[in-house]
Amino acid sequence: MSVLQGKKVLLGITAGIAAYKTASLVRLFIKSGAEVKVIMTPASKDFITPLTLSTLSKNPVHSTFYNKEEENELWNNHVELGLWADIMLIAPATANTLSKMTNGTCDNLLLATYLSAKCPVYFAPAMDLDMYKHASTIRSLESLQQFGNIMIPATSGELASGLIGEGRMAEPEDIVSFIENNIISKLPLRGKKVLLTAGPTYEAIDPVRFIGNHSSGKMGFAIAEAAASKGAEVFLISGPSNQQINNSLVHRINVTSAQEMYDACHQYFKEVDIAVLSAAVADYKPKNIATQKIKKKDTSLVIELEPTKDILKSLGAIKTNQFLVGFALETNNEISNAKKKIESKNLNAIVLNSLRDKGAGFAGDTNKITIIDSDFKEKAFALKSKKEVAKDIIEEILTRIS
Ligand code: CTP
Repeated sequence: MSVLQGKKVLLGITAGIAAYKTASLVRLFIKSGAEVKVIMTPASKDFITPLTLSTLSKNPVHSTFYNKEEENELWNNHVELGLWADIMLIAPATANTLSKMTNGTCDNLLLATYLSAKCPVYFAPAMDLDMYKHASTIRSLESLQQFGNIMIPATSGELASGLIGEGRMAEPEDIVSFIENNIISKLPLRGKKVLLTAGPTYEAIDPVRFIGNHSSGKMGFAIAEAAASKGAEVFLISGPSNQQINNSLVHRINVTSAQEMYDACHQYFKEVDIAVLSAAVADYKPKNIATQKIKKKDTSLVIELEPTKDILKSLGAIKTNQFLVGFALETNNEISNAKKKIESKNLNAIVLNSLRDKGAGFAGDTNKITIIDSDFKEKAFALKSKKEVAKDIIEEILTRIS
């Protein structure tokens, strides 16, 4: 999955011949899961039509402060557009637009939007080789980068003039991967490794039966996704679960029993920076597993159970620099029980669910949590989707490890 998935991209097109390539650019953004809006300088419409771009982006394309053709002369709000965007890209960026951006000139919608944008702004210069080398262009490029804008350098090759040299706009594929890599390089968990447990465990009774629970794995998988979206490499140790994850940063390790989960956790724990144990691990397992299917009898059946290993506690005991987070599912004395678990299992934080809260727990799509850290500071969150809860958990961890 691309880091551009779900991002709002505002593409500003200026009047250079490379504008014809912006059709591909819009397609690539859409394919990577981004939402795209386009603004054009009036002169850029000589190079590519707004109809092409609005069709590809599935959004209206604006180039003036208001739409003269429309009955109501609708105002195109540059501030709104600037605030809407997660990313602004100006491509192609001509010498003229670069110079205006440097000076704060805002005599068209694109420039006014650029000045209003609060998001990262990327620009891909495109011009003839002598224009690209001109001292005034060099000054524009330097100033714009000093302002915090991010340049996607022009490349060398044959130019519209027939001359060969530097000044070609980077190819659309390269622009998109430049932006993706730039986003990834700034992610707060980049270079960090996270261990996660999710789902239930199944404890075998005989070859066909087991003791299990209703955990779906949704919470743990959502945390894996949230951690990966911040750049972490995730080792997701999952009990039996139908959940799917498709993210190159997440390595899924399937286990069945508490013992297998214990072994897998100990295999990865030493190399991780953060561990979040959200699995609903069985506390007991059959003492003896029947090798043959147990036959039905008329008398009652007693299965002797013995405790499983407490994975979380065992990791707390060997913890060095890892930030260790446990989950607690409680029905009464929630806060004090959770605090006891922080101490007895040597945790940095615990995520508390109370079964008394409607919508909390492990089967549904929502959860309501309170995060308590090792200083016993409590933060209660509203009922949210598990995806949103996962983001909150990762954000809370981030504030404590940075
Ligand atoms: N946990 C674990 N290994 C176990 C049991 C639980 O790692 N064998 C982890 C869970 O993944 C969770 C935390 O321990 O992060 C708390 O689980 P919970 O069942 O609420 O607590 P317990 O310590 O088992 O205590 P109790 O059931 O008595 O409340």
